[in-house]
Amino acid sequence: MSILVTGGAGYIGSHTCVELLNAGYDIIVLDNFSNSNPESLQRVRQITNKSFKIYDVDLLEREKVEMVFEENHVEAVLHFAGLKAVGESVSIPIDYYQNNITGTLVLLEMMARHKVKKIVFSSSATVYGANASVPIIEDSPLGATNPYGSTKLIIEQLLNDVYLSDRSWGIVILRYFNPIGAHISGEIGEDPKGKPNNLMPYITQVAAGKHPRLNIYGKDYPTHDGTGVRDYIHVVDLATGHIKALEKVLSGKGIGAYNLGTGTGISVLDLVHAFEQVTGLNIQYQILDRRPGDSATCFADPKKAREELGWEAIKGIEDMCRDAWRWQSKNPNGYKKVDIVSI
Ligand code: NAD
Ligand code: UFG
Repeated sequence: MSILVTGGAGYIGSHTCVELLNAGYDIIVLDNFSNSNPESLQRVRQITNKSFKIYDVDLLEREKVEMVFEENHVEAVLHFAGLKAVGESVSIPIDYYQNNITGTLVLLEMMARHKVKKIVFSSSATVYGANASVPIIEDSPLGATNPYGSTKLIIEQLLNDVYLSDRSWGIVILRYFNPIGAHISGEIGEDPKGKPNNLMPYITQVAAGKHPRLNIYGKDYPTHDGTGVRDYIHVVDLATGHIKALEKVLSGKGIGAYNLGTGTGISVLDLVHAFEQVTGLNIQYQILDRRPGDSATCFADPKKAREELGWEAIKGIEDMCRDAWRWQSKNPNGYKKVDIVSI
């Protein structure tokens, strides 16, 4: 019996693979490497000293996805695979709907056909829209402000409909807040393509000298220092949340959505200062206008996950900064192998 991890080579998927293997699960990774590098999975093997099957398969390739279910005894699926860049989703919405929704439909069709009725889905706090009152509870009104968020909302709805049609499914929807940090080994971490859109990888790249300064988007928000407040969560805490979610779907039927956050709001400047303190480095920054679509404050009420999954985040902002910096320092070019030029 194995756990199928779609998108397992990605940032959150690779950290979750480590936790799954350490917890004794057999895993199979399915990824098309559209936003990742197979090297991440070599590193997972190295960290855990365990082996697993890897399928270089696109979820849109129905026959190949079916083959994965035919060749293996899949017990449950952790479904990370998807495109995730908010700005890009506005430019190429068809690709986002096609990849995220059609990909999930193919996966669910194959799961149903092979009687694999247990799934943990990677949703996002973005489903709460831009105006949710904080701390955000799972019953808050839902709404999307961009095509990426729409794909998450539609998939959540799809999963609800699947459950209503057949109550023998076990489904957990995890709404992540802002995952940052890296595995303590510094061997796996976030490897954005091009200039990062998100705050922490931008900070680490400024610290590494790749950009002259950080742009802070807005200092006139109604927050304690005027910069945007978010709920940053260590990616390893997020990964352990998946182990608890998996235990939940393996042990019974039902459907539930859970916030994975710390419950603590941290501003952009708080994060910059924490990073500076932990690393002893200076982060140059400039204040620019607000970034369109950003909310002032977003943080979770994590009570439901604590009470029903028995999970809570344990790592603090210093761990997140230290581990993000260790990953950046050990891997200045991410997973990219730099050709050795002979001299
Ligand atoms: P990531 O891009 O690092 O990982 C996603 C993986 O899915 C990549 O390895 C990519 O190659 C793969 N993939 C994409 N489309 C595929 C397809 N059609 N077939 C097979 N593989 C495919 O992203 P991540 O940060 O690890 O995020 C994982 C999941 O969590 C995503 O669904 C994302 O939307 C969600 N999420 C991420 C964040 C975040 O801030 N990182 C926040 C909320 C939710
Ligand atoms: N920010 C900057 N400068 C930057 C990048 C970000 O000041 O270079 C600020 C933003 O304005 C915001 C905060 O840092 O106030 C966090 O921004 P991120 O881009 O890191 O994260 P977001 O909260 O905007 O969005 C992230 C993911 C979304 C996901 C959401 C909730 O990118 O996909 O968290 O989970 F939906």
